[in-house]
Amino acid sequence: MGGQLPTTIAIDGPAASGKNTVGILLARRLGYPFVDSGAMYRAVTLRALAEGVGMEDHEALAALARRLRFHFTSSSERFPAGRIFVDGQDVTDALRDPMVDAHVSLVARIPEVREILVRQQRKLAEDGPIIMAGRDIGTVVLPDADLKVYLDASSAERAYRRYRELRSRGETVEFAQVLADLEQRDRLDREREASPLRPAPDALVMTTDSLTPDEVVAQIMHTIADC
Ligand code: C5P
Repeated sequence: MGGQLPTTIAIDGPAASGKNTVGILLARRLGYPFVDSGAMYRAVTLRALAEGVGMEDHEALAALARRLRFHFTSSSERFPAGRIFVDGQDVTDALRDPMVDAHVSLVARIPEVREILVRQQRKLAEDGPIIMAGRDIGTVVLPDADLKVYLDASSAERAYRRYRELRSRGETVEFAQVLADLEQRDRLDREREASPLRPAPDALVMTTDSLTPDEVVAQIMHTIADC
């Protein structure tokens, strides 16, 4: 990077690996916008569930992805990842509904849906510095990103993080169920044919079980300084 800051930063990894938390902290540090690409797959899923579109109806799901208009706002105290509006409606909280969790990987495995959303994600990255988090950002969406980070952690640790997050929001969930759901989603994301979850060959792979988000950011900043 020749002493320059990376302009595009891709952060990938499985569910609850800390991509958003780390991405937001890094975005604040560098003054870059942050985009959570998973929110787009969640938004299509949310709308499909609301409209009664079947998860096997690839054509209708692709039409939905094509029709929806996304708008991201920048980070704020209450919404660190920013807010996401779909066709003018604020869906930030609704995207975290457990029903969306349970169905989103079925929508995300459809190549036509991915093609439409990837095009929009690339457009968001056209206008300057960006940090984008997801599953295929370093491998497919922004393969020329200046810095690629792949965050991982054991499924027990990731499920525990998700469990604490759900509990803090007042949801009554069992740890064993959270773990089973997370492993099922990971399996679908890793084993699908279209853009499966995997680290880019040139990604900085970090296992974060025993690291705080601040420590992960510090290591990334260290890597940036060394480049
Ligand atoms: O990141 P998050 O857990 O919110 O993503 C929800 C789902 O969206 C993932 O489980 C995955 O199926 C899908 N996704 C994807 N590609 C991305 C981002 C998310 O397939 N770039």
